[in-house]
Order: sequence, then C-alpha cells, then structure tokens
Amino acid sequence: MKKRFVSMFLAAVMAGTMVAAVPVMAEEATEAATEAAAAATDVDLSDKKVGVCIYQFSDNFMTLFRTELENYLVELGFSKDNITIVDGVNDQATQSGQIDSFIADKVDVLIINPVNSSSAATITDKVVEAGIPLVYINREPDADEEARWEENNWNVTYVGCDARQSGTFQGELIADLGLDAIDKNGNGKVDYIMIEGDPENVDAQYRTEFSVKALEDAGLEVNELDDQVGNWDQATAQQLVANSLSQYGNDVEVVFCNNDAMALGALQSIEAAGRTVGEDIYLVGVDALSEALEDVLAGTMTGTVFNDHFSQSHSAADAAVRYLTGEGNEHYIGCDYVKVTKDNAQDVLDMVK
Ligand code: BGC
Repeated sequence: MKKRFVSMFLAAVMAGTMVAAVPVMAEEATEAATEAAAAATDVDLSDKKVGVCIYQFSDNFMTLFRTELENYLVELGFSKDNITIVDGVNDQATQSGQIDSFIADKVDVLIINPVNSSSAATITDKVVEAGIPLVYINREPDADEEARWEENNWNVTYVGCDARQSGTFQGELIADLGLDAIDKNGNGKVDYIMIEGDPENVDAQYRTEFSVKALEDAGLEVNELDDQVGNWDQATAQQLVANSLSQYGNDVEVVFCNNDAMALGALQSIEAAGRTVGEDIYLVGVDALSEALEDVLAGTMTGTVFNDHFSQSHSAADAAVRYLTGEGNEHYIGCDYVKVTKDNAQDVLDMVK
C-alpha cells in the first residue's frame, strides 16, 4: 500500500466519511509508486543493500510493521535479495552483533528497531563511524540522543508516532462513556488496572501516563487498583489480569492495556472471571490488530487506537531513500494515531486485513 493512498484513506476514516472506492485507490497507489521512484531517479535502488534490525519477530505489531516495510521497499525499487531483516530476539547483545555484521557487510542504509532504546548512543556511534545512514523506528531514543544527531548533523533520524497521543485517546475512549456508566461500584471514581508494555519503552511510559491524565482532564476522579508490567505480551497480561481480577473483583471497572496483544490476554481473563465488557467492565488497547478490531465490533473490547504501521514503515523507507539520494532528513519524522470505536472499526479493519 502506498503512502498517499494510506493517508487519503486515513483522512477519510478519521473524518468518518469512508467510501469504498477500490479502483481509485489502486490508481492512486500506482501513481504514488511512480512518484516515489521518480524522486530517486539519480540513484539505482536495486543494488542498494538495506539492513533492518527488529527487536523481536514474535511481536505482533512489529510483524505487521516489518512485512509492510519489506513490501514497500520492494515497491520503491529495492531488490528483495538486498533487504535483510533480522530478529534481535529481545536481546540487545544479539542485536548489537547483528549491527556489527551489517557494518562489516557494508550495507548502504540501516533501519533499526532497538531492543533497548538506552543503547541508541552506542549504536549511533558505531553506525555513524562506519558512514552508514541510520533510521530508528518504533522505540524512540531519548532527547539527549536525538539532540546529538542534530548538533553533529549526522544522517540519523527517528520515525514514529507520539505515544502521548495514543494514551490520551485511550483515556478519552473511557471518559466518553461518562462516570455513570463506568462507576459500577458507586464510589464516584474510575477504578482501573494498568497493564504496561516494556517499561524502558517510551510508548509504555507515555500511554500509561496520558491515558490516566485524559480521565483527569475530563474531570473524573481516578483510583489505580493495580499497575503491572506485561512486556507487550498476551500470555503475561492474561495472567496479570487474572490475578488483579481475583484480588479486586468487581471493583475493577476499567482495564487499560498499553497494546492490543495484552488487551487480548486481558479479555481472556475478563471472560474467564464471568465479567462482560461493555456491561460491567471496560477494556482498551492500542495498535488496532485485526483480532482486537473484531472485538471492538463485537463489543468485547471498548476501543483501541490505530498504531499506523503503514505510515511508519513507509516513512522509514522514504527516509532511507532520501539518505541514499543525498536529500537528507529532519531528525524526527512523526505520524498520527487514530482513535477506534465501534463506529470506525470496520473501516480500519478493511484497511489492515
Ligand atoms: C506497539 C506494541 C509493540 C511495541 C514494540 C508499540 O508501539 O504498540 O504493540 O509491542 O511497539 O516496541
């Protein structure tokens, strides 16, 4: 799927004016591909080597991301044989070794989803030293690290969405229900449990903070019953939510999960505890995985937030091309999340499926 196609689609989804126009979309896609290829006329991308490091292949969201990234790089003119995508198996030492191999192989550009964003400075130093342009994705290095790229005018950038926005959208999905609907135990507060992703990841930190902030900003009083680390993982979250539900019982009114994989795990435990989403408990995630969108449509999830892997992977590939053509990039390339309720879940599902 091409960038312009996706952004047009998203604009329609966000505006709630989605109309099915498949032939027009296909035409747009071809047009956008031609434009992208034209932008790179002076450089033959087909012989450029791209190294891609993913923190962990088994992550559902990063699987969507890397699949789309590879497809789009090929559409832009890279040869599939010259794109190497490796699995960091959630181990920084493994990933650092993979980066060393890519440097030894003299790849032309690197796209890196770091295992630990705190290792970014070390990664940047060796990649810059090797003269290879670098595009970080999904796990944002800290502000000091990003400032170094700017100060030294290095060919290093980050592509991602602002996780504060996704947290805010999660909070709003709950706040919009109104206190009367949420406050089953009648204590005048929103009693919630929070299941966090990897705490080193700024996405987890911001989603946690801003989902609660959005409730408070809406004038609601909040009561945190439990806050646990589920490391983005469904099975871990299932266990954690089962524990919280058995400890706090019917007092749990809302379950916030930093991503959909964990929300799917939470839902298994909510159902096993005999609770019903939409009736006596509410559940939100982030990513818009197709399974979660099916749940939103069925009412078994209150809502989710679309983490646009199309836009992020395309922007990362486009940034890589701009380094190869010598055009260069800003040191931060952002994108928007989309709030998903029953009203637009089908449109988003049609797009991600
Ligand atoms: C996604 C998670 C994913 C994580 C990986 C987040 O943006 O929402 O599902 O596990 O990125 O870093």
